[in-house]
Order: sequence, then structure tokens, then C-alpha cells
Amino acid sequence: MVHVDHEEIRRRAEAEGQGHLFNLVETLDDSTAQSFYSDLAALDWDLLERLKKQMHSKEEGGAQKLSPAPSVKKGGSRDAAASTRGEELLAAGKVAAFIVAGGQGSRLGFDGPKGMFPASPVRGRTLFQLFGAKIAALHDRYPKKMPWYVMTSRSNHEATLRYFEEQDWFGLGEENVRLFSQDMLPAMDSSGRLLLEAPGKLFLSPNGHGGSLLALKTSGALKEMVDRGIEQIFYFQVDNPLAVIADPVFLGHHDLAGAEMSTKVVAKRDAAEKVGVVGLVGGKYGVIEYSDLSEAELNATDANGDLRFKDGNIAVHMLRRDFVENLTAKGFDLPYHVAKKNIPDIDPATGESRLTAGVKFETFVFDALAHCQKSIVLEVDRAFEFAPIKNSEGEDSPQSSRAAQITMFQRWLADCDKVVPCDGCGKPEIAIDIDPRFADSAAALAARDLETLDLGGDLVLE
Ligand code: UTP
Repeated sequence: MVHVDHEEIRRRAEAEGQGHLFNLVETLDDSTAQSFYSDLAALDWDLLERLKKQMHSKEEGGAQKLSPAPSVKKGGSRDAAASTRGEELLAAGKVAAFIVAGGQGSRLGFDGPKGMFPASPVRGRTLFQLFGAKIAALHDRYPKKMPWYVMTSRSNHEATLRYFEEQDWFGLGEENVRLFSQDMLPAMDSSGRLLLEAPGKLFLSPNGHGGSLLALKTSGALKEMVDRGIEQIFYFQVDNPLAVIADPVFLGHHDLAGAEMSTKVVAKRDAAEKVGVVGLVGGKYGVIEYSDLSEAELNATDANGDLRFKDGNIAVHMLRRDFVENLTAKGFDLPYHVAKKNIPDIDPATGESRLTAGVKFETFVFDALAHCQKSIVLEVDRAFEFAPIKNSEGEDSPQSSRAAQITMFQRWLADCDKVVPCDGCGKPEIAIDIDPRFADSAAALAARDLETLDLGGDLVLE
């Protein structure tokens, strides 16, 4: 462990008005004290000072600056050329997959890393298993093996690593999978005092998915990408089992346009759907969070009666590697967003548990769009690309995602002239689960021998 000078660290923290953190320090055992001082030594006091100030300055909603942005719709005449280009890049081994899995998944309330959540309809394949299988399908399809970078955070790194080991790296080869953690930031109360989770333990939380760009650099992943000849990074989130990994059409549109960072969107289900919207902010592509749009903006319609801000961000991006390098070359340039939360901490004087009205700070990956000279937005069909698992029930839950997966498989089968029995509302009456290694698209399914398919009960293809 790195040696840290406790006295020096304490003096600095006290000078920063954080003396309360040391009230219980005499009661700590050696190893807790050691890690406490290491965490304090790692704090960026200048950043914390800025965040404290930001907490008190009223955050500006970006909505008034937002106007609808041009987008390309998947399925258009330029897809063929885009797909050809995307396939070339994939075949040449120039693309890496990058999943961000450092979040806390508190809405789902699953005990463990969210990637270990059983998501597929019949087999209950976990999110990580599904993504691993999708990448394995790409390994089978292209001559060069796509590397998979996995960002975790301190709270789930060990469990995620153990799971990847247990699963034998999903058959991808350990050399093609790399895990690393993002940075953490301390939470504060409304007067800027840092909070404790337990005696000798700062209350820290991951620095948001925007932290993934910095973590790519600090972990050495970017450097490794250079060595492997990677030029494009496919970014996706852990909670969407329908994510089409390194979709050649998306990749091709992005590359042919010379874009630095690109985004996939779906048409919003309705005005109330809780997704950020993509638009132009001060002439540049940007995303405005659902909570930053007013009722009037959420419900605004255009001349055709369609939602004015209809492009829902599904958090699937292509990023040019050199764009991430430039963005992180001199520190880190993404803004911090303030999230007001009731934080379960301890009273620093007594050690008793309590709930404190405080703030957490996060960066958002889509804020990097503001740094792009060139960017494209591809609108895709939600039914084939987006069925997130965010909440424990209702919309965007395991149940809604499972139903969406089954419906997608039903539509793939229909393309192969296989008719799945449905109820009067067109809802499949059987559950269907297709391993991505068996088929990861309707086209891949059509290439399989489906002669003897039995649709009389639940269907598993693997
Ligand atoms: P969410 O915004 O859904 O947050 O993350 P969350 O922490 O997973 O879930 P809640 O809000 O507590 O319920 C979207 C994606 O960004 C990743 C998540 O793992 C998920 O893939 N993420 C989020 C990070 O990797 N790090 C973060 O700090 C935040």
C-alpha cells in the first residue's frame, strides 16, 4: 500500500473545513484507518471546492437552448453503403466494444452487479452472458477478435471480475476482455461537508457514466487500443439486452460522415417517457435530461402533431478513439451535474445512522457531444434495439424487457415465415429465447435450418 502521511492529510482536510471527518478516527482499526487516509489523500480538493460552489449556483436547465436536430433514419437508401463500410472496419479489427457497468442500479434493487441480472426470457441468461454471446457471434463472423472493455466501479468491481472468471470470459479469451474501474466522488451535505458511510469510510459514489471516458485513459485502455489498431469505440450500457453491438450500419454512417461521436435514438413512446432527448444545443448536438425539460417542452408538438423533441437518447454511441484521446489529454472537461439525494450516512460525532439531505455529483457521457465538430444521430426502431431494465416493475422493467425480447424474436421468426401463435392482440402466446450465438439478427436466423422448428410450446434456440 502507498505510504500516506496521516498528519499532513488531516491538516489539509481540516483546512478545507472537513475536520468533522476525524471525530471517530481514534476508534478505527489499523486497516480501516489506512484506507480512510488513502481515500482522503486521493481527493481533489480544488475540484471539491468547485463542486461546492456549483451546488449553490442554480443549475440552468438547457431546454431553452434546445432545438430539434437532424437525424438519419435506419432503413434508408444510404444504409447499404454504411453497412459495407462498417463491415470493413469490423473485419479489419478496428472496433472495440465498451460497456459501462459501474452504476449502482438502485432502481432495479438487484443484489449484485446489474450485469449479473437474469434478463433473457426462458433461459434467464444474464445481461453479461447476452453481451458476451453477442461479441462471441462477432468473433465467429469476422477474422479479427473484437476486444471488450468493461467499466466497473469500486462497489462492483470484485464481484464483476469473479463473475467473468467463473464464466471463463464468456469464451472470448481472457486476452480480449479487460475490466477497469471508474473514479468515485464524495457526497456532500448542503453546506459542503463531506459525508461518512461508516466510521473511517467516506460516502463515495461513481462519478457518472461520463467518467468512462477518463477511465479509458487512466486505466491504460486507450493506449492498449492504439497497440491493437482500434480506431472506433462502440459504447453501450449494461441495462439494454437488445443493444446491437457494433451495428455495422451505425458504425458505417458514423465513419463515412467523419463523426467524432455519434448517437442512436428512438422515437419517444410518448411525452412522458423518461429518456433524455437529443437536439441541438447552441448549434451542437446535445442531450437534455428528461428532468430538465419543462411540461410545455415535453408536450410541444410540430406542425404534423408529432412531438417536437421526439428523439429519445438510448445511450448507444460510437466514439472515435482519437476523439477520446483529445478530450482526456489535458485532464477532464465534462461538466458535473448535481443530484439532490437523501443520503444514508452516519452522524460523524456519534457514528449513528441517519439520512442526510445532500448531493452527489455525476458526469454524463453525452456531454462530450458538445466537443464534437461532427456528429450523426441515427434513429432506430425501438422494437429491435431498446428494451432497458431500469425499474423493478412497470415500464422499463425485467417484465417489459422480457416481453420486448419475445416480440423481437417473434418478428425475426415471421421474417423466416415461421408464425408464432399469438393472442387476439397479437401478443405471442409462447416464450422465445434465442442465444445470440445461434442468431443475433433476423438475417442470421434466416441463415439457420429452421425446418423442424416446433412452435407448440416455449422455444429456445441455442
Ligand atoms: P443509470 O443512469 O441507469 O444509473 O446508468 P444506474 O446507477 O445504473 O441505476 P440507478 O439510477 O441507480 O437505478 C446508465 C448506465 O450507466 C452506467 C450504468 O451501469 C448503466 O450501464 N453508469 C452509471 C456507470 O457505469 N457509472 C456511473 O457512475 C453511472
